Amino acid sequence: MDTPDIAGRLILAPMAGFTDSPYRRIARRHGAAMVYTELVSAEGIVRGNRKTLDLMRFHPEERPIAIQLFGKEADVMAEAARRVERLGPDLIDINMGCSAPRVCSGGSGAGLLQNPAFAGEIAAAVTGAVRLPVSVKIRIGWDESTKNYLELVPRLEDAGVSLIAVHGRTRAQKYTGSADWEAIAAIAAVSKLPIIGNGDIRSHRDALDRLTTSGCAAVMIGRAAVGNPWIFNGAAPTASELAEEVRTHLRLMSGFYGERGIVLMRKHLARYFHGFRNAARLRGALVRSSSFDEAIDLIGRFENGEFDSPED
Ligand SMILES: Cc1cc2nc3c(=O)[nH]c(=O)nc-3n(C[C@H](O)[C@H](O)[C@H](O)COP(=O)(O)O)c2cc1C
Repeated sequence: MDTPDIAGRLILAPMAGFTDSPYRRIARRHGAAMVYTELVSAEGIVRGNRKTLDLMRFHPEERPIAIQLFGKEADVMAEAARRVERLGPDLIDINMGCSAPRVCSGGSGAGLLQNPAFAGEIAAAVTGAVRLPVSVKIRIGWDESTKNYLELVPRLEDAGVSLIAVHGRTRAQKYTGSADWEAIAAIAAVSKLPIIGNGDIRSHRDALDRLTTSGCAAVMIGRAAVGNPWIFNGAAPTASELAEEVRTHLRLMSGFYGERGIVLMRKHLARYFHGFRNAARLRGALVRSSSFDEAIDLIGRFENGEFDSPED
């Protein structure tokens, strides 16, 4: 199994509802070394569910791209992986970290952390089904008393996976507390595979620091990349560069989803103008905008200074 050819060391994390094709293109244009789809149900793929299949559409510009699967049955995961391989991604990723009850209480996602031997079987079923490299994204354990990553990682290595991404929290933590980068570094120190460290990176500087101190091959950025694709290349956009980028994102959303894309864009819009001078009123108006034309018009008015106000 080959390691995929990835140029750069800052990777966009998979995020349901955010890392769709338009945003993945934006992230790649700003230097993300690799991108992931959000988690996609292996069962949905095998059943041919239209909405599930739609989640896997990607543009060549997004490469290298990983399609992330979740599931808990080895034969379903293997069949889903075979079908995904035909779509031609660069990597197939297995989700062993999702903490959402609808996923992990049924035994998928982070549910697999509770049984490392079974997690290894799932990974082996997928690596055995495809020629593409397979990666796994894990958390460091189910809860505080079962941080079993040093048991899990060798099982995944034996299963033939090529890469492991580690979010340094337990499932019980969900997104609370802070990511345990000592645990991530411990995995990077013992594993023969490239390790991608993940959790709480808030800036480009943070990313570089984590790379140096953790011994990871790469780091993965999630929440802090929303509204800030510049986190990947370290650039600081001016107000007009920001406005131009948001217009580009709006056009990509419109092209990909049609008019309904404006609703999906609202959560990005709120983040893009976060912390920008004089942007509070613009943000308020943007998150209520109901068409692409209206949003583009608001941004033009922002650039012309129409939203400037002394109290901002
Ligand atoms: C809204 C949201 C959706 C997420 N969806 C996924 C997902 O589909 N697959 C996955 O492996 N992780 C998912 N994650 C977890 C992130 O990939 C990442 O591990 C986590 O947010 C920690 O990184 P960060 O501190 O840089 O955000 C999601 C996180 C958020 C906030």
